[in-house]
Amino acid sequence: MAETQRHPFLHGLSKHRGAPPTVVVIFGASGDLTARKLIPAVYNLGVDGLLPADFFLVGYGRKAIPDEEFRTLAADAIKEFSRRELSHDVWDRIAAHTSYVAGGYDEKAAFDRLAAHIADLEKKLGREVQTLFYISTPPSVFAPILQNLGASGLAGKYLGQAHHAKVIIEKPFGKDLASAVALNATIRSVFAEHQVYRIDHYLGKETVQGLLVQRFSNAIFEPLWNRNFIDSVQITVAEEVGVGTRGGYYEQSGCLRDMIQNHTMQLLALTAMEPPVSLDAESIRDEKVKLLRAIQPLALGPDGDAARAQYAAGMIDGKAVPGYLQEEGIAKESATETYAALRLSINNWRWQGVPFYLRSGKRMARRVSEIAINFKRPPGALFAEGDRFNLATNTLSFQIQPDEGLSMILNTKVPGLETRTQPVKMNFRYATTFGSNTPEAYERLVLDAMVGDGTLFIRGDETEASWKLYTPLLEAWAKAGRDGMDTYPAGSWGPPSSDALLAKNNHVWRQP
Ligand code: BG6
Repeated sequence: MAETQRHPFLHGLSKHRGAPPTVVVIFGASGDLTARKLIPAVYNLGVDGLLPADFFLVGYGRKAIPDEEFRTLAADAIKEFSRRELSHDVWDRIAAHTSYVAGGYDEKAAFDRLAAHIADLEKKLGREVQTLFYISTPPSVFAPILQNLGASGLAGKYLGQAHHAKVIIEKPFGKDLASAVALNATIRSVFAEHQVYRIDHYLGKETVQGLLVQRFSNAIFEPLWNRNFIDSVQITVAEEVGVGTRGGYYEQSGCLRDMIQNHTMQLLALTAMEPPVSLDAESIRDEKVKLLRAIQPLALGPDGDAARAQYAAGMIDGKAVPGYLQEEGIAKESATETYAALRLSINNWRWQGVPFYLRSGKRMARRVSEIAINFKRPPGALFAEGDRFNLATNTLSFQIQPDEGLSMILNTKVPGLETRTQPVKMNFRYATTFGSNTPEAYERLVLDAMVGDGTLFIRGDETEASWKLYTPLLEAWAKAGRDGMDTYPAGSWGPPSSDALLAKNNHVWRQP
C-alpha cells in the first residue's frame, strides 16, 4: 500500500505492541455499551494484532450466563456492531480466552470468586497477568464495585514493570461538583490516580487527536491563536437523534450533564489550552486543567451566559417526530433540557475578551460536531462595495464528525473584469486522503489503558474543575423549573434564546 494511504496513526501505534499479558474484566457485561462498543473494540484490536498474545476477557454481571452463551452474545455483538466483519480466525482465538462470572456488585463473596477465577487463569497460563477493570454499569453501583475491588485485593494486584491493576470508569462521572468529589474520594480510597482511566469517548475520536496534531505541528497557527487575531470560537455538538429509549436516564441528566460538561468541554480545553511541554499524559492534562480554571463563573439568570430548550415536534429526514415531552418515559412537565448553549469567557492572557460559544442538542437539523475559529474581520476599505461591507471573516473549522476534516474560509477574487470578492472554502477530508476505515474511539481507549497511557482520559481534578463551573447553573435551572425553558422544532438549529445569546455580542451561529 502506498505510504500516503496508510492509516496515519498506525505509525504511532507500534509502541502499543508492548501491552503485557492482560485480563480485561467488564462490569455490566450484558449491557448495551458492552455489546455496541466494548466487545467490537476488543475484537478490532485483535484484527489489528494489537492485543497481547496472552489476552483474556471476563464478563461480570448480575445475570447468570454460562460461558458459552456469553461467547455467543459477544459474537452476535461483533456481527451487529463491529466496523469489520467477524472473522473466525481472530474471534475463535479471543473466544477461547473468554469467560463469564456472575455476581452482585455489592457482594464481596462474588468479588472473591472473581479473584479466584483470575488466579485460575494465571495458573493455567503459568504466569501472572495485569488486570484491567472496565466499569460499564449504571453509576449507582460505581462505589460498591470500587470498594469490593479494594476489599478483595484485586485493586492492589501488581504485575511488575509498572503494571498495577487498572480501572476504566465510564460516564457519567458524578452529576454535580459534590458527587464528583465524592466519587473521586471513593476511587482514591482504593486506587492511586495513575491506575484510574476516566472515559470521555470524544477523546478517543481520531479527529480530536488530530486537533492536537494540527494545532501544534503547524507553525502558521500558534502566532494567530490568541485575542489579537481571533474574534470568537464556536463549538457545536449537534445530534439528529432524540432521546429514543433512554428517557429514564436522560430525564436525570439533560444536555448540560450529558454532552456539555464532558465532551464539549474537552473539545474546548484542547482548542484553547497552552501548548504542553510534552505530549505525555500529565503535561497535556496539566494544561487542560489550567484552562478550565481560567474560565470565568457563568452569569446566571435570564440575561446570563446560558440558554436551554427542549425540542418540540418537528421533521427529521422528511418524517414527523414527536417533541421531547411526548417521548416515552418523559414527565409531562419535565424541566430537562435537550439543548444548551453557553457563552464562556476565559480570563487569561491568550483569550481575554474572546467569547467561546458552546452548543449541543438532540433532534437538531443534522448530526455534526465542529470547532469553528472565527478570525477578526479584515479592514474592508479596499473591497467595500458602496457602503456594503462584503468581506467574509476567515473561519478555520475542525470537523470532528461526520465528514471528518479541516476547512478554511478565505476571500478570493471572482474571475472576471471587475474586482469582486467571494468567500471560498478550502477543504481537507480524512476519508479522501487516508481512506475511511478509521478505528473507533473505544479501540484506542481500551488499548491505551492496557499499555498504561492516560493521555486520552480525564484526570480527577479535570472533572472537578468542569463541574465547579457548571454546578451553580444546574442549581439555578433546577430552582427555576420550566421557567426560562425555550423550545425549538425537531430538525432545526436550536431555539431563539440561543441566537439571542450571541446577538448580544453581534455574533451569529455559523451554519455548519
Ligand atoms: C454520549 C451521550 O456520551 O454521547 C449520548 O450519553 C450521545 O446522549 C453520545 O448521543 C454521542 O456520542 P457520539 O460519539 O455519537 O457523538
